Amino acid sequence: MAIQLNDRYTSTFLSEKDLKEIQPAVTAAHKTLREKSGAGNDFLGWVNLPEDYDKEEFERIRKCAAKIQKSCDILVVIGIGGSYLGARAVIEYIKSPLYNNLKKDTPDIYFAGNSISSTALNELLAICEGKDVCVNVISKSGTTTEPAVAFRVFRALLEQKYGKEGARERIFVTTDRAKGTLKQFSTDAGYETFVVPDDVGGRFSVLTAVGLLPIAAAGIDIDQLMAGAAAASHAYTDPDITKNDCYRYAAIRNLLYRQGKTVEILTAYEPFCAMLNEWWKQLYGESEGKDQKGIFPASVIFSTDLHSLGQFIQDGNRILFETVLAIQNTGSSFAIPNDPANIDGLNFLSGMDLDDVKKTAMQGTVLAHVDGGVPNLLIEISEKNEFVLGELLYFFELACAISGYILEVNPFNQPGVEAYKKNMFALLGKPGYEDLRSDLEKRLQNS
Ligand code: PA5
Repeated sequence: MAIQLNDRYTSTFLSEKDLKEIQPAVTAAHKTLREKSGAGNDFLGWVNLPEDYDKEEFERIRKCAAKIQKSCDILVVIGIGGSYLGARAVIEYIKSPLYNNLKKDTPDIYFAGNSISSTALNELLAICEGKDVCVNVISKSGTTTEPAVAFRVFRALLEQKYGKEGARERIFVTTDRAKGTLKQFSTDAGYETFVVPDDVGGRFSVLTAVGLLPIAAAGIDIDQLMAGAAAASHAYTDPDITKNDCYRYAAIRNLLYRQGKTVEILTAYEPFCAMLNEWWKQLYGESEGKDQKGIFPASVIFSTDLHSLGQFIQDGNRILFETVLAIQNTGSSFAIPNDPANIDGLNFLSGMDLDDVKKTAMQGTVLAHVDGGVPNLLIEISEKNEFVLGELLYFFELACAISGYILEVNPFNQPGVEAYKKNMFALLGKPGYEDLRSDLEKRLQNS
C-alpha cells in the first residue's frame, strides 16, 4: 500500500499486551461490519462502492464535467456537511487551496450554501457578475436550509441571465434517486440529476456523484481516485491488527481514548491538507460523538499552527494524541536561496530543499510532542496523487466504521444534529413549532 501506519511513537503509551487485548473487540467490529449485523447496517453502501458503483452514471459524470468545463467560467457547488466537504477536500488536496487563482483550462469552483452568511453570499454573487456560471446543487434531502436558500438565489440568477431553457443546461442536481422535493422539482424542471445512494450517508459520500462531479469538473482523474479506493478496499480485509494498518489505527485510537486521550488532532504539514482535515473531522465527529462518548476530532496545519497551538500541544492539558499525515513526495521542491549578508543567520540552510526542512521540522516536532506526553501516530503517504488519495479516503472511512463499532456506537447516524435545527425553526416561526417557540422565547428572556 502507498500508505503505511507507523505507530512506533505510541510505544511509550501502549504495550503489546494492550494491542493483544483489544484484538477481540476489533474482530467483533470486523464481523459486525462485514456481516452487516450492526447498528446502521442500512448505510453500508460505501464499503463496496469503489467497485460496485453505477458505471452508467460514472460516464454521465465524466460527460457532464466536460460540458461544465466548456460552458462556464465559474461552477458554483451548493451543499453543506457531507454534501460539500469531500469535493472541496479533494480539489484543494490534488489541485491547490489556490485552485481558483491558478492558470488553468477548467472553471473556477466556488462553494455556496455551507453557511448562513449574507456576507459570503453577496461576495460570491459579486464574483459571478459578468461571468458564465453553472450550478451543481447537492442535497440528499433537498430541504437543508443553507443549500436550499443558496439554490433559490443561484437558480433565480441563472434564469434571469439565461432564461429558463438556458438555465436548464447549466443546473445539475445531485440528490435522492427517487424521493424528496429536490428530485421532484428537478424532474419537473428538466435538470440533469445524479444520485446520492440510499445506503451511503453524507459523510461517506465523497466517492459518489456528490464528490465526483465537482472533482471531475476541476480536471481531477476520478478513475484513479476510485482505483486507489478499490485497492484499499482489497487490502484491509484481515481482522488481525498486526496485518491490517487500517484496523490497527482504529484499535490504537480506542486504546488511547481509554487512557483519557479524548482529543485526536489530525496534523498535516501542508496547507493543501486543510480541507481534508475538515472532511476527516466531520467523518469522525459525526460518526463517533454520541451516547456521551467519542474522541473529539481537531486538526492543525504545521508549521503554521505550531506558532499558535504549539504551546498547548507541547505543554497543556494531556488529553491529546496526534495522527500525523506524513507525505513523503509532494512532487514539489524549492531550494532556499543564499543571502550574502546572512541577515537572519540562516545561511546554513542555503541550497537546501524547503521540503526537506519541512520533513526535519516534522521529525523534531514528533519527538518533542511525544516527550511532552502526546502519543503520535504517523500515516506515511508515499506520494501526492489521485490514486493514493483514494486509498487514504477509504482508509479513513473504514477505520472510522471499525472504530465506531469498537466504541459501541452507531457510526452511521447523526441524531444530535437535529436539536439546533428544531430550535432555529421554532424561533424563526416555522409553522408547527409554536409550543417550542414560546418555551424558547421564555428561556431567552429569562437569561
Ligand atoms: O453527513 C451528513 O449526513 C450531513 O452532513 C449531511 O450531508 C448534511 O447535513 C447535508 O444534508 P443534505 O445532503 O440532505 O442537504
